[in-house]
Amino acid sequence: MANTRMDVRAIKEKIDIVAVISRYVSLVKSGSGYKGRCPFHKDDTPSFVVSPEKGLWHCFGCGEGGDVIGFLMKIENLSFIDAARQLAAEAGVAFRVREDGARERMREILADAASYFAANLRSPAGQRARQYLRNRGYDEGVWDRFGLGFALPGWENLKRELSKRYKVEELVELGLLVAGKEGIYDRFRDRTIFTIFDLSGRPIAFGGRAFAGEPKYLNSPKTPLFDKGRILYGLSWAREGLSEEKRAILVEGYTDVLTLHRAGLTNAVGSMGTSLTRGQAELLARFVEEVVIAYDRDAAGGAAALRGMRILGNSGLSVRVALFAEGDDPDSLVRRDGSEAIRAAVDAAVPFYRFYVESLNEKLDLTTVTGKERALVEAREFASGIQSLPLRQEFTRELADLLDLPVEGVSRELSRRRRPGREERPVAEGRKWEPEEDLLVLLLRGDIRWERVAGRVSPDHFSEENRPIAEGFAAGLEGSALIDGLDEESARRASFYALAPIEFSDVDRAVNDALARLVKLPAIERRLAEIDAEIGACEERGDLERWNELTREKIALLTEKLARRRGDGEEEA
Ligand code: GTP
Ligand code: MN
Repeated sequence: MANTRMDVRAIKEKIDIVAVISRYVSLVKSGSGYKGRCPFHKDDTPSFVVSPEKGLWHCFGCGEGGDVIGFLMKIENLSFIDAARQLAAEAGVAFRVREDGARERMREILADAASYFAANLRSPAGQRARQYLRNRGYDEGVWDRFGLGFALPGWENLKRELSKRYKVEELVELGLLVAGKEGIYDRFRDRTIFTIFDLSGRPIAFGGRAFAGEPKYLNSPKTPLFDKGRILYGLSWAREGLSEEKRAILVEGYTDVLTLHRAGLTNAVGSMGTSLTRGQAELLARFVEEVVIAYDRDAAGGAAALRGMRILGNSGLSVRVALFAEGDDPDSLVRRDGSEAIRAAVDAAVPFYRFYVESLNEKLDLTTVTGKERALVEAREFASGIQSLPLRQEFTRELADLLDLPVEGVSRELSRRRRPGREERPVAEGRKWEPEEDLLVLLLRGDIRWERVAGRVSPDHFSEENRPIAEGFAAGLEGSALIDGLDEESARRASFYALAPIEFSDVDRAVNDALARLVKLPAIERRLAEIDAEIGACEERGDLERWNELTREKIALLTEKLARRRGDGEEEA
């Protein structure tokens, strides 16, 4: 990998990102960078920016972004290797990719790891995982078919076993082991394992679910075989179902996919969390014409459905959204009400623009003038992401109807240009701006270095989505080298923070504020991590009074944590 990585760096040093992007976008100088209209969505603002200094681009309209190789991949629909090869030729530098033998060996290692996890599940130590899976309705017959397994508790089980046959560095490169400060140890410990397969059904990565504690799910990092943003969970099992139905059911979770397949809905695939990427959308577009989004019915699922449908729509797919009862996901629905319930929900799925319009109705009071005005402002953002003209028209009609306004007027409003924002934080996908994001902006711009914050925070303080970026900084990487090591989704986020139009009047104060707010949640997590043991000890002693106290504390901590996650915890801290 060292070769390829060095070659990638050489390509980016030689290639002029502005020259490459200018072939597709007309750019004008703006500050220290360039601006233009985004080629990836209908953009009349213009909201697409390029920074030659950082070697990054980002669209603040649709959220796409990355480096020059990522740009070429997206605009020409190329694989990473093909895009890099093309730019290498242009720059006159070498681009060495591993020969096939090396990839074959990596696949062999992953297959070996999958068998190892499968064997653990059947071993005496796998009792708890077997029980867990049975409780969720997955009995033995399912384990092999879907590649389920178990990672033993302890730090060096997989390491001991697989290093008999492979080099430790190989296992680290494939994300099976983690090289930390205190040594090299197993990434997956005491977790139920879901094997992630490539299109041909070969194991390429793993997801591990904890029995309790955080994070609930842990995935393999980006490796030469796996980029979460370009893989869909369950695709190899769904291929036939997809081509028969010409329609996919897109769900969040591993268990959603398994449960749907077992219920006979063999066209279900999982985005592995809520951040669907363009790469995943393009993958789907190779198999189907329509996607039904069946995300969890919670705040995160709703916001994600909104974002997902734009990405899917822009990949030429028609999109509907299935609606569940509050708190449900496809897995829980099928287990409670049977497979007919999920079929009915999929059949009743609403077109995405109607889902959006209805979400406005839930959020705003549309009987008032202010409510209508706000709805129009928000809808303008949203509409600019819809490329198809007939779809935009449908959307406009639906909205006009809801607001009780003339269609022509609404249409005019929707195509009006947005006033350039003042010093506000950019609204990132309709959610609240987090303190960690201020830090990432400052770090990625180079206003501060990681050392400035390293004593106070570690990557664990960052949310799941931003953790890969923080890990890069913590590993001593910066600038282009940091971006190279990121998966597609993280690179998109990094370009966003690096180029975000935010002014800090006082950098020092911004850092301190962010640190103060960031460090609280992990304190909650730490307490949660230890409290179960204490509760257990009380049970053993028969100390009911203390048990009561601790249980109440645990509930309070969990409530607080959830509130924080949803962002309604501390509005004005
Ligand atoms: P359970 O039913 O509790 O096992 O979970 P679920 O399958 O319903 O998962 P949930 O709705 O919590 O999350 C959906 C998907 O998001 C999961 O299957 C994972 O792919 C992903 N996910 C959830 N939590 C985490 C996490 O803590 N870290 C990571 N990396 N992914 C997660
Ligand atoms: Mn779920």
